[in-house]
Amino acid sequence: MKITLSVIKADIGSIGGHIRPSHRLVETVKSCVERGGKDLLIDHYVSYTGDDIAILMTHQRGVGDDEIHRLAWNAFLEGTEVAREQGLYGAGQDLLKDAFSGNVRGMGPAVTEMEFDERPGEPFLFFAADKTDPGAYNLPLYEAFCDPMNTPGLMLSPEMAGGFRFTVMDVNCTEGDRVIELVTPEEIYDLAALLRNPERFVVEAVWSRETGEQAACLSTSRLHNIAGKYTGKDDPVMLVRVQKAFPATGEVLAPYAVGPYVAGAMRGSHNMPLMPIGLNGDISYFDGPPVVSCAAFAIQNGKLTEAVDVFGHPFWQHIRQKIAEKAVDMRRQGFFGAAMLPREELEYTGIMEKLDRLDRRFQLRG
Ligand code: 13P
Ligand code: 13P
Ligand code: MG
Ligand code: MG
Repeated sequence: MKITLSVIKADIGSIGGHIRPSHRLVETVKSCVERGGKDLLIDHYVSYTGDDIAILMTHQRGVGDDEIHRLAWNAFLEGTEVAREQGLYGAGQDLLKDAFSGNVRGMGPAVTEMEFDERPGEPFLFFAADKTDPGAYNLPLYEAFCDPMNTPGLMLSPEMAGGFRFTVMDVNCTEGDRVIELVTPEEIYDLAALLRNPERFVVEAVWSRETGEQAACLSTSRLHNIAGKYTGKDDPVMLVRVQKAFPATGEVLAPYAVGPYVAGAMRGSHNMPLMPIGLNGDISYFDGPPVVSCAAFAIQNGKLTEAVDVFGHPFWQHIRQKIAEKAVDMRRQGFFGAAMLPREELEYTGIMEKLDRLDRRFQLRG
């Protein structure tokens, strides 16, 4: 049976700054999706990660479907009304355009979708990150799909022997989707050369070369390219199908133990370690640290099981402790050097006017 998984996610307002949406707001979005999705959806799951509400939908309408996108857009619009009523901060923050034009891509919300033939056992993982941008997944995906040090399946499983194909997007390009395809293992050095720059080059999809099936899809939107100024972080979502021709769940999760430094946290302008947290978790220290949650599902004819909170396992408490230490260490150096993002990433913030003003005061001596 051909099934489409669609995730559409937005920040439409939160409590205490950029911490988390109110329960009433989440319930409002949920009931809109229930009401509007009766004849459209097979199933759905509404959750939040930090201040972002994500709607995961299963259906048979393919990717980029008008009605599916409209359903999510309307749920976020209705939610925004509640956010305003409750005085939530940043009500409607990610709804950057007024008129819905058939697709939420380019309108603010993050979206990622894939259509596939459901396998008899169809396990998949739904990741949602807050206070960071889509490049945050570059390293974990490289590890999971390219590195036998992380993924023994690359050696042990004949189903993975053919390697993978990566679609990588140049997210600085505003004229259209500028993409490149790279195959592994032959081109892993080339892939690494791009993925080392996560602010510009972002994995959009991964495919099995053994079966041709799609393994992963990610949201790649950069909000500052849409808004022309800093309005909030992109806070990316990702779907990864696991097992058989794809890495095992544990191979996809293991790289998150690294807690890599990623762009984000306070004012979206810093480098801070990415912390795996439980489902429906909040934000705290320094508008961060950047967080990622992961819900594991099985699916049959589009019907979802309950979500399993994989980063809720006791193992990750130890990892979180270490990541908290990394975060505090980085914060010791304040605004200095590697603690903040490079100038190009701050271009959409107010610092540019300041730098321009100072630039005019410089004088060439002698
Ligand atoms: P099971 O024997 O529990 O199916 O595990 C197989 C496996 O490969 C896990 O990585
Ligand atoms: P969000 O994108 O999650 O709203 O975060 C914005 C921010 O700048 C927090 O400091
Ligand atoms: Mg916010
Ligand atoms: Mg957010």
